[in-house]
Amino acid sequence: MLIKKLQHRMNGLAQANLLRQKWIAQSPTGTHQSIASSDQAISDNHTLFCSNDYLGFASHPDVLESLREGIDLWGGGSGASHLISGHMAPHEQLEDMLAELFSQFIPENRCLTFSTGYMANLAVMTVLGDSGCEIYSDELNHASLIDGIRLSKAQVSIYSHRDYEVLEALLQKSNSDMRLIVTDGVFSMDGDQADLSVLSDLAVKYDAWIVVDDAHGYGVLGEVGLGSIETTSRLCDRIILIGTLGKSAGLSGAFVIAHQTIIDFIFQTARSYIYTTAALPAISYALLTSLKLMHGPEGKRRRAQLRLLEGHLRRSLSTLVSEQSKFGVSITKSSSPIQGVIVGDTQRAIELSSGLHALGFRVPGIRPPTVPVGSSRIRLTLSADHTIEDIDRLIEGLQMLFKKMR
Ligand SMILES: Cc1ncc(COP(=O)(O)O)c(C=O)c1O
Repeated sequence: MLIKKLQHRMNGLAQANLLRQKWIAQSPTGTHQSIASSDQAISDNHTLFCSNDYLGFASHPDVLESLREGIDLWGGGSGASHLISGHMAPHEQLEDMLAELFSQFIPENRCLTFSTGYMANLAVMTVLGDSGCEIYSDELNHASLIDGIRLSKAQVSIYSHRDYEVLEALLQKSNSDMRLIVTDGVFSMDGDQADLSVLSDLAVKYDAWIVVDDAHGYGVLGEVGLGSIETTSRLCDRIILIGTLGKSAGLSGAFVIAHQTIIDFIFQTARSYIYTTAALPAISYALLTSLKLMHGPEGKRRRAQLRLLEGHLRRSLSTLVSEQSKFGVSITKSSSPIQGVIVGDTQRAIELSSGLHALGFRVPGIRPPTVPVGSSRIRLTLSADHTIEDIDRLIEGLQMLFKKMR
């Protein structure tokens, strides 16, 4: 019965073009990768426009050397959860380093690290979203924030994407003890940014706190690479910041930084912190190197290169898409290395993605529920290691495919 029921549901997904496919990378993360799918032979040397390794640190020799050294010094697994015996000196050093980096933006802060951003978001939302709390969440927030909110006991209001007038109207009506505004810093599927100055004004005016998930802003935005909050002109001190370490930092993990009482309470009560094995200490050890690079001259140089590539990609895409607008193609209003090319229905997104695959590019089609119905797209991401030539070849490929799609 169960098998039949699931087969029926899978058929439904297939009919709606919503089946997902497994790709098996045959070489390390980079701008070029050999990949295989379950039903296709290995394709060599695809140009990847889909990883979140924005600064190319997943393959930086110093980071890799540090990872090896971390294993020599600290062995393999942590052996237990943080509060049993798994919390080791590199975990603690990483938390201290991150707390210090953000001390000018988040006063009296502390930092807590997690194995993944998904778990960090579950922790923050479930711990802070108690029954006396009202959560205001942007409709395009990441799935992990949404899942954390679903698991919370808070009353939830969802506001239309970046519509802060709607948000203010909701805040005006609130009679809860505690208000939490929840937003991505850089939205993961569109690449646009939350306006943290406006949100800060609202937080002060309505006695609210702001949870910012800056998974895609951290390391990428700002002179020093501290992300969305570094680029905000009027930032209030009611910020709970989440960042991930598997994207621009090139390894894995996540952190939450906030006032020390908030962090202490998360530490004491968050189930996704307490009931899981601590990450490999070697990862934290290597992250110390990665973050030193990221917030120093090397990171700055790579961010400048990213800006250059982003500008080139956006200009080329704008020209291309203006020729296609009558066919319902548009680009997202991005200000980051994430760029969506919206084609509308699921079938077209899949066709475009497989067409690009055949031409030697890996660019995934993104469909509901990851994006709203009718806004299926391909999602491009850039790394500082891409070249202008990589982008030009991609644009040529897209031009060819758009012609065929008419
Ligand atoms: C905005 C955002 N938040 C959180 C996460 C989850 O982070 P992690 O991959 O470390 O679980 C992701 C993506 O993975 C993301 O895009």
